[in-house]
Amino acid sequence: MTIYNFDEIIDRKRTDSIKWSKKHLKEKFNEENSIPMWIADMDFKAAQPIIDALISRAEHGIYGYGHKSEEFLESAVNWQKKRNGWDIEKEWILFTPGIIPALNFIVKTFCNKGDKVIIQSPVYYPFLNIITSNECHIANNPLIYDKGEYTINFAELERIAKDSRTKLMFLCSPHNPVGRVWTEAELKQLGEICIKNNVLIVSDEIHSDLIFHPNHHTPFGKISEEFRMNSIVCTSPSKTFNLAGLQVSNIIIPNERIRNELNHKLTTIDIDPGSFASVAQIAAYNEGEEWLEQLLTYLAENLDFIDRFVKERMPKVKLIKPEATYLAWLDFSNLGLSDLELQQLMQKKAKVALDDGFIFGAGGELFQRINFACPRSLLQQALESIEKSLNGIA
Ligand SMILES: Cc1ncc(COP(=O)(O)O)c(C=O)c1O
Repeated sequence: MTIYNFDEIIDRKRTDSIKWSKKHLKEKFNEENSIPMWIADMDFKAAQPIIDALISRAEHGIYGYGHKSEEFLESAVNWQKKRNGWDIEKEWILFTPGIIPALNFIVKTFCNKGDKVIIQSPVYYPFLNIITSNECHIANNPLIYDKGEYTINFAELERIAKDSRTKLMFLCSPHNPVGRVWTEAELKQLGEICIKNNVLIVSDEIHSDLIFHPNHHTPFGKISEEFRMNSIVCTSPSKTFNLAGLQVSNIIIPNERIRNELNHKLTTIDIDPGSFASVAQIAAYNEGEEWLEQLLTYLAENLDFIDRFVKERMPKVKLIKPEATYLAWLDFSNLGLSDLELQQLMQKKAKVALDDGFIFGAGGELFQRINFACPRSLLQQALESIEKSLNGIA
């Protein structure tokens, strides 16, 4: 058994990391030396089998065109079976170099100009840009936030879904940034509303391997035959195994007609996994579980650390404890600040680079999102800086 050391500080400044780039920190957060706790990747080394497989592939020395090999597809099929008990077939999988490209192509394929796509804000903000940059409209069904808990507004969803211009729903499952793992009952109710109104469900399950006990992820397509035939499930090893820079994702579409339509659009740019993407996914899905289990334990401890810290040292701030993801959602609304004042406080006084809640759409105001996939010492440093910046305010 390999024991991984997630406490190890690894300097990412000399790599091409966007999270740690001085230029980005300066442009986005006004301070090139701020502690980067924003974009969703991890400051941890990948699982050893992935590193070994990539080194071995690099040493081969020939880096020509790749393809979706049987082994690549089988690794995704076996992963769904192993982690979620979902039986999928190799033929159902389309490759894209990330979920964002997939969502873009999905809108281009299934919407006409002026059509509407449902989202539930506050939500992963590129959803908003993808819809509007494809000349479609956002049909927002804001999540209900009550006593620190988030739920779906089903009555409003039904009203929005009934509009004949509503063609798609982008479901974030689990939900970034509020950290909800939707229960099977919630997904059923949501799916029934969409299917009844001919709204195709696009379930973005990129965070679905990062679930905290005792929560349990339900793949949308696993719920029933009807749900399987009316959905597109977007999956990827990139968040789970910290492979975002290798650009690999698996778009699962059991319905042949829907799959062919999307595939037809995708073939216009002729994409196949690059050699490193393939090798990394195969190693991750086939040999990465030992690392993942240790990662989940470490992340859960980091989350407990934040929970204790916030309760004891920043009692006016409220942590919305995520059921999944390594992103925590902090409610600063009790401080009496405006969004701009809160932003300035984090950027100029705390010098911690967090994502402003308002970028996630309506309902995100006066929140900040913190990425806690980093060594605990760095997390502690960031929280202490935030605590100090609140001196005299909270
Ligand atoms: C919900 C969600 N979808 C998609 C992505 C990005 O996916 P990709 O890097 O595969 O384009 C992220 C990254 O944070 C995310 O949180």
